[in-house]
Amino acid sequence: VLDGRLSRGEPVPPTRELAATLGVSRNTVAVAYDRLVAEGFLDSRVGAGTFVNADSEGVYRPLPRTTLRARPVWGELTDPADPGAVEFDLRPGLPDARLFPHQAWRRSVARHPDDGRYGDPRGSIGARTAIAAHIATSRSVRATADDVVVTQGAQQALDLAGRVLLEPGDAIAVEDPGYPPARRLFASLGARVIPVPVDADGLVVSAIPADARAVYVTPSHQYPLGMPMTLARRVALVRWAEERDAAVIEDDYDSEFRFGGRAIEPLHSLDRIDGGGRVLYIGSFSSTLLPALRLGFLIAPASLATAARLAKQLTDRQCALPAQDALANFIDEGLFARHLRRMRIQYQARRECVLAILQRDFGEWLMPIRSVAGLHVAARLRGRTFEDTAVTQRLRAAGVAMTPLSPLYAGRKRAGLVIGYGAVDPAEISHALARLHEILAQ
Ligand SMILES: Cc1ncc(COP(=O)(O)O)c(C=O)c1O
Repeated sequence: VLDGRLSRGEPVPPTRELAATLGVSRNTVAVAYDRLVAEGFLDSRVGAGTFVNADSEGVYRPLPRTTLRARPVWGELTDPADPGAVEFDLRPGLPDARLFPHQAWRRSVARHPDDGRYGDPRGSIGARTAIAAHIATSRSVRATADDVVVTQGAQQALDLAGRVLLEPGDAIAVEDPGYPPARRLFASLGARVIPVPVDADGLVVSAIPADARAVYVTPSHQYPLGMPMTLARRVALVRWAEERDAAVIEDDYDSEFRFGGRAIEPLHSLDRIDGGGRVLYIGSFSSTLLPALRLGFLIAPASLATAARLAKQLTDRQCALPAQDALANFIDEGLFARHLRRMRIQYQARRECVLAILQRDFGEWLMPIRSVAGLHVAARLRGRTFEDTAVTQRLRAAGVAMTPLSPLYAGRKRAGLVIGYGAVDPAEISHALARLHEILAQ
């Protein structure tokens, strides 16, 4: 009836006949007809039989065959392929979970019985105080607990920044090449995402479109190329934002691991020197602790603080308290600083291992890009003979996950490989790069 295959007023078979056709008892059919009559699908007339109800328009009107459609933007965003389980995972942004102090973390979680109530959407006061204290010393970011919003990783901080700043149709400039999850997120919020080229000094500030409402950057360790943004460029970017009344979203995702060179001031501190309040500073515990903990933070200028708190509340009310309490405990007790020191030594050795192998065995194919921080190095493929995506596909078949550089470009693409060393030890790096060598040699 709902499909319109039985039309209005049409008789349905007598109960005895349908029972025989279906091989069920007549009573079963009678009960079914009774229910259909009660629900208004059928109409029973004594002596005449049972008919499809002719009166109740709408009950059996054939439904138009439509399906629900997501907003068009979701059709334009592709799903980044997860490589699944691989023997050696050399993708960027992954720490070594094997070296995470799981026991100490679990003890920290267990120490804080949850009182079972909702809390401040910005996060627990303990976590916010600890984060503010930590970044004051490690990154010279001057902020109080009141300025911090604890988020589900950097990704949610980006989401909050976008929600607070961007109207649908607003332009946001992003680095090209750049971090796809940021680009895709801003697009999903209805923003116009404008790729702006990156050169050896970082984002080319003079190429930012005049109407950009915000700029998303990774100044300490450009994602994916790895070089820091020069001081001149950082100053120029903050000035640009002031002149244009625009915002700068600074993603400081893995600057905790720095191997030499002078500490690079975040844009956030340059902003404060000029008294601007233009920079939204974002940090993440994904590479310093574990991505699975989903812990990060946003520090917004005072003028955006209320909106950021409300956005967090409307998005998910607050982050889970046990993880925040554990984080606070970890930082306060010095366990976090100790873990960072240990991991810095590990990652430095891994990084040197990658660079040494690249220099020794890959000189004819790969040209590493100079960088001093983070959990990955990027290297350009020399010449035009290689498709980086074809290389990484073959690597994947050989049990190694690595990120090709070219898909991270929106404009003119350059081939290369982004080699993460966070989740693999030096022996594993040698095995994985030996497989890469075989593939390139072929
Ligand atoms: C540029 C960039 N930002 C942020 C992150 C961390 O994201 P999240 O904190 O959401 O895990 C990563 C991790 O790889 C990254 O590469």
